[in-house]
Amino acid sequence: MSRPTPHVAVDRDVLEDNIHAMQRAADAARLALRPHAKTHKSLQVARLQLAAGAVGLTVATVSEAEVFAEVCDDLFVAYPLWMDDERTGRLRRLLDRAGVTVGVDSVDSVRRLAPLAGAGLRVRIEVDSGHHRSGVPVGEVLAIATAAAEADVAVDGVFTFPGHSYSPDSRASAAADEQRELGAARDALEAGGVPCAAVSGGSTPSVAYARAEVLTEVRPGVYVFGDAQQWELGTIAPQQVALTVVATVVGRYPDRVVLDAGSKVLGADRSSWATGHGRLLDHPDAVITALSEHHATVTGFDAPRGTRVRVVPNHVCTAVNLADELVVADGTWRVDARGANT
Ligand SMILES: Cc1ncc(COP(=O)(O)O)c(C=O)c1O
Repeated sequence: MSRPTPHVAVDRDVLEDNIHAMQRAADAARLALRPHAKTHKSLQVARLQLAAGAVGLTVATVSEAEVFAEVCDDLFVAYPLWMDDERTGRLRRLLDRAGVTVGVDSVDSVRRLAPLAGAGLRVRIEVDSGHHRSGVPVGEVLAIATAAAEADVAVDGVFTFPGHSYSPDSRASAAADEQRELGAARDALEAGGVPCAAVSGGSTPSVAYARAEVLTEVRPGVYVFGDAQQWELGTIAPQQVALTVVATVVGRYPDRVVLDAGSKVLGADRSSWATGHGRLLDHPDAVITALSEHHATVTGFDAPRGTRVRVVPNHVCTAVNLADELVVADGTWRVDARGANT
């Protein structure tokens, strides 16, 4: 009996091609690759990335780090953690299992790491390179490094997320912003006598433009599976999409069909520039005009009820975050970091 829909399917050949292509590109650019594991949340996928040559993994939360410490001893929590007693205890235990670097972007948050002095924790200072989410202007990095020294926590460098690359025609300019701001942040630290070994950047749209003149490593995540956003930004071709949601046509009307995959499977992300709520991999002219929890409304495509289609989510990280398992040709892979969002 075929597997019920909707389910999340991964084409292992495409996945491995994506992993190796990114590793080759990073090697050719003389950049270390530290893929963001929040995209796949899967130990199996992490093992493939590390075997291909990734230097370590990026994660978003301490609980993701706890999961991925099983396969990786060099973890970067690229997030401005705000420590409390519970998280401090978890980080201390984690440091017995793996090397851990955490993001910081304020003097106050660095001071809260002081109880971990001497435990081997490293911090990396987040710079805002134009995305205007977290991160500080270059002029503030030295004060944070000084606070880290006072808290007896080692600074290993700087990082940024050029998330403004997620807009049509912004990939190259966001990468230029990233390089300029990271270079200035590194220079500011070094001028203040703080060595800056790590200069870390990279999003999937901008990574092709990252240069070793300034950066030492890149942290793309989405590249591993691809998604409709990357397809529409031109970062990937549809043939590079490794993850789809397999769905069934359950409704057929004169102007539309309805699929059994809604926002509870595909995720609800939709950028202002996206053509719809995802794409049909094998029917590029179709438009997903609306999503509700268990329905996707599709125009520009017609098929009898019962037809199966492959839906490419707009943002693959949020789709994986909703899944328990990934279906591959010969079985299933657990989403090991399912729910690891603290
Ligand atoms: C801090 C950080 N680094 C790296 C990434 C990975 O970038 P992408 O999702 O474009 O692959 C993200 C994604 O949100 C991020 O927030």
